[in-house]
Amino acid sequence: MENIDNKININHCRTNDNLQLFLKYNEEVKNVLKDDEDRYWHSVSVSLTAQNLADVYGANKDDCMVAGILHDYCKCMSINEMLLMCEKYNVELSDEDKQADGCIHGFLAAKICKDKFNINDEVYNAIYYHTCGRPNMTILEKIIYISDFIEPLRRFRDRVEEVRKMAYINIDKAVVLSSEMGLKHLKATNKFIHSNTQKTIEYYKKLIN
Ligand SMILES: [Fe+2]
Ligand SMILES: [Fe+2]
Repeated sequence: MENIDNKININHCRTNDNLQLFLKYNEEVKNVLKDDEDRYWHSVSVSLTAQNLADVYGANKDDCMVAGILHDYCKCMSINEMLLMCEKYNVELSDEDKQADGCIHGFLAAKICKDKFNINDEVYNAIYYHTCGRPNMTILEKIIYISDFIEPLRRFRDRVEEVRKMAYINIDKAVVLSSEMGLKHLKATNKFIHSNTQKTIEYYKKLIN
């Protein structure tokens, strides 16, 4: 795998005094995502994007970094593997959680990372809710939710530039924009929609008006 310094400017971390913390998780994540190099770089990029947003919103940079690098920890597992691991790690899944199979990797990653790395509750929730969000998110939860969508290696949606700009101006508006785009994508691809997605949109729409 390419050296990290060649791909993303790691000086960003050095200036933040949290390079050692980053490196602690980096090897683990590189290993667990070894079958999907793009996913690994996405995780690094979410971590760095989250730290930029932490500057803007006064959030805890270490928490942003840890939640960012770990958020897709389980993304390389098959759905069957994830369901088995949810049983093993006592991750309770409601019927709709099971139907929204795109969300399970977040629920499971939060629990596994809590067991493995003893992440704090704030980081746990940011990982847990990174796929569908929820009403009344903490600033860390919003930062991870949005960073997952806007990190610079993402090139998947037409209006992502609009969310990128908005993320640094009004993160609640960015949550509405990205959630609505996510919802549209789920509908277009006939995927099950978790009620938290709709609740997140309704909550933040009310908040910004
Ligand atoms: Fe994810
Ligand atoms: Fe992600």
